Amino acid sequence: MNVFVTGTDTDVGKTFCAAAICRGMELKSLPVAYWKPIQSGTSLPESIDRNVVSAMAPSTTIVPTAFNFERPLSPDQAAHLEQAPEATLEDLLKALPKVEELCTIEGAGGLYVPFNQKADTWIDFLSATFLPTLLVARTGLGTINHTSLSIRAIEQNGTPLLGVLLSGESNSQNLQSLQRLHPNVAFHEIPHVNVPKDANHATDQWDKLSLNAATFVLDQLEAHHGESEAASWVAENHLHSWHPYTQHQIVKDPLPLVRAKGIYVYTNSGERLVDGNSSWWVNTIGHGRKEIGDAIRKQQATMDHVIFAGATHQPAAKLSKRITDLAGSGLTRAFYSDNGSTAVEVALKMAFQSFANRGETKRNTFLAFRGSYHGDTFGAMSVGSSDGFHGPFSPLLFKTMHATPPTHHKSHLCPNGSDDYGKCVDELRATLAEHHQKLAGVIIEPLVQGASSMLMQPIPFLKELEAQCQTYGLPLIFDEVFTGLGRVGAAFAFQRGGVSPDIICLAKGLTGGTMPLSLTLAKESFFEAFLSDDKAKALLHGHSYTGNAIACSAALATLDLYENEGLAERACSLEAKFSKFFAAYSSQLNLQNPRSLGAIMAFELPGSGFGDYFNSQAQKIPAAARKNGLFLRPLGNTLYCIPPLCITDGEADHCLEMIAKTVSDLN
Ligand SMILES: Cc1ncc(COP(=O)(O)O)c(C=O)c1O
Repeated sequence: MNVFVTGTDTDVGKTFCAAAICRGMELKSLPVAYWKPIQSGTSLPESIDRNVVSAMAPSTTIVPTAFNFERPLSPDQAAHLEQAPEATLEDLLKALPKVEELCTIEGAGGLYVPFNQKADTWIDFLSATFLPTLLVARTGLGTINHTSLSIRAIEQNGTPLLGVLLSGESNSQNLQSLQRLHPNVAFHEIPHVNVPKDANHATDQWDKLSLNAATFVLDQLEAHHGESEAASWVAENHLHSWHPYTQHQIVKDPLPLVRAKGIYVYTNSGERLVDGNSSWWVNTIGHGRKEIGDAIRKQQATMDHVIFAGATHQPAAKLSKRITDLAGSGLTRAFYSDNGSTAVEVALKMAFQSFANRGETKRNTFLAFRGSYHGDTFGAMSVGSSDGFHGPFSPLLFKTMHATPPTHHKSHLCPNGSDDYGKCVDELRATLAEHHQKLAGVIIEPLVQGASSMLMQPIPFLKELEAQCQTYGLPLIFDEVFTGLGRVGAAFAFQRGGVSPDIICLAKGLTGGTMPLSLTLAKESFFEAFLSDDKAKALLHGHSYTGNAIACSAALATLDLYENEGLAERACSLEAKFSKFFAAYSSQLNLQNPRSLGAIMAFELPGSGFGDYFNSQAQKIPAAARKNGLFLRPLGNTLYCIPPLCITDGEADHCLEMIAKTVSDLN
């Protein structure tokens, strides 16, 4: 069990406190280790912290230091001046001791000391490791501000703070002030005593202090461990929560997750699993992104939520401009709501009312596509075509026409795969020719129907659809709730298809998986169709949280990451990786209908047919995947994977290997 020891500053007594903990553990006859990952100032032997710990706690296992620098400077500066290899976050994570015993890991300097030119700091190290942390602080004048700032930095980082060790001559006034400022933080005083030269010179004072320090740490570890591991919240959930899409009679044990970082989620027992479905497809860029967290905190402190009718604010104004610029194609207006379903409701209302406002009131249906899923509110269900999800509500839904979308692979909609393309196009043309006067619009999930087993359309179909809608003057709505924001290898599916829809729906990836937010973007002509002296011709739709300022700020930070990190390009490189994977494994494992687009890959299980939703092998996937370190939620017999786009090449290769192993393990 690793515990990180940091300080409010350099020279506040980190090494003294770490040595005290180690010595205390020795006196309790418990094994203990010490690691100083980066040491600067090695030109002076007395400043080498591992030597100090060895002398003061001689039975402690000393893990070798990974990076040594001669100059007593911050590691980034020392490495630079000495032209020595600098420490990277990856190096430190790889070198992290894997020990059963308590291992005190001592940082260099305080939390925000950088260890490389990229300016990775201990805060980044902690946000990658979630190590329980002890903060060492001075007792004297000036400590209150430094200690309080460091506590806040640790807490805001999501790092478990075990407690604060106040090192030096006791100062009860400062202690009380800090306790008042941070009533939930445990403080422990470590008075300075004569430092023993070695164990033979250890004094009673030193041993007593050490025992107390070790007891404090062990107690705090137990309290923190208990809190997240506790069976109690799992039991509370079982008694009081009602989960979506869950038959509670069958599913008794939802995965108890306690944290998430990058492409991983972590269970309460410390299991690390790849988030293979990007948490219901919302997490486009990786969990726990600091930049988004910072934006959320800053916005919450500035202005949280204010009404968006009759008032406005900068985050929404900036987001409207930014997202419409990114979309281009004449999509100039952004309407705000909270989730994918409501974004679809708004799109349907925009299309329908734009006709009604012009006096065309007989257009009372939409053309949608078989296999589509647009959400779970009533309008969204009506244009959906998924009996499996919405069967019980069918008597309440408005009538919608459906055409068959072509798929470039075999599917239950197109049993002959791309050979059925012509048939689908003919059906579309015939339906529109016959019914276009009744239609208020056409809605499609462009390129990929997600919920209906990741069915993938040939890209040219979008051009055909666009041409048909233009022929009949029908609004073309692209539901890009799933495909938008980089996932298909372009900012939006319509861009990959080279077409220009009239309205698009966005949600899921918009805030990088942090805040519920959705947008319906429309061309200016739709906005203009609602302009009138008559108030009833306005778009009379809104939600309490419409245009939530915190969510808008999260979306702006997400768009920064999306652009700065080239995430659409990343999706393209994943697409190439998936193709290689299928080339290597499809016939070996008998994978059915392998397909991929951008960051989405899917196939049906060996030997299973189309739409075999209750396939018995498929039921075993979540457990088999979990054993291989993956969190997967198959759609019936379709196994799919959509990792967050921050996935590295190495992680992606490993993830694909584990998918192959999971399929083999089923047999
Ligand atoms: C294409 C599409 N549209 C709409 C929705 C509904 O979004 P939400 O679940 O946020 O309401 C989804 C959800 O999966 C979707 O995939």
